[in-house]
Amino acid sequence: MNLILLGAPGAGKGTQAEIISEKLNIPQISTGNILRAAVKNGTECGLQAKSYMDKGALVPDEVVIGILKDRIAEEDCKNGYILDGFPRTVPQAEALEKMGVVIDKVIEISVPDEAIKARLGGRRVCESCGASYHIEFNPPKTEGKCDKCGGNVVLRKDDAPETVIDRLKTYHEATAPLIDFYKSRGKLVTVIGQSEVADTSKLMLEAVNG
Ligand code: AP5
Repeated sequence: MNLILLGAPGAGKGTQAEIISEKLNIPQISTGNILRAAVKNGTECGLQAKSYMDKGALVPDEVVIGILKDRIAEEDCKNGYILDGFPRTVPQAEALEKMGVVIDKVIEISVPDEAIKARLGGRRVCESCGASYHIEFNPPKTEGKCDKCGGNVVLRKDDAPETVIDRLKTYHEATAPLIDFYKSRGKLVTVIGQSEVADTSKLMLEAVNG
């Protein structure tokens, strides 16, 4: 099964993709995680991406499309995958179609902008393994330390309040048109993001299986 998770920054795509990935035993492909790893490793692609990511802008389509194409050709994708954060623009969605990728469902997680600001302001991520926490809703067991690997849990640079405003603007301008794009193809299911992660997961799994 090939799934796309769509939604504003902080809508919970990463959190839900991880849960669904475990349930369906298919990989979660997060272009954000791939790009952050490239930045951390100082690769050429990472150097190109960093300035865009830091200011909350989208990385150019040709860079991200190349990354995605390589990733879905890997062996672990042969039974399907969950795209988390791709496509982000209509040209990216068209590129996916040109690659011959058949998408089974696109699940949009809908969360109001005000709730997003609270979520991202409180999000903390592990700088070693990338695990995501929230200081109020999902804190690590030991403050500042990752439950999974013991790494430092820090504020992501693009979660600064002024950058979140820019990321939301980019979402509404460049990514939200994908809602109509996939609606017109009969693929879209909208899930209203709940205040509890488990409640959203239940709705997500119903959407996947429905
Ligand atoms: P990316 O990493 O994809 O960031 P994003 O889409 O902005 O999404 P986030 O990771 O911020 O949020 P999420 O929806 O996954 O939420 P999460 O589950 O973490 O991209 C980063 C950057 O990379 C982009 O800005 C761009 O520059 C570049 N990029 C990536 N892909 C690209 C592409 N295709 N094209 C071009 N550029 C690209 O949850 C957020 C917080 O809320 C967490 O703290 C979590 O604990 C909490 N939370 C989650 N669910 C709930 C809930 N139900 N109730 C309460 N809190 C919750």
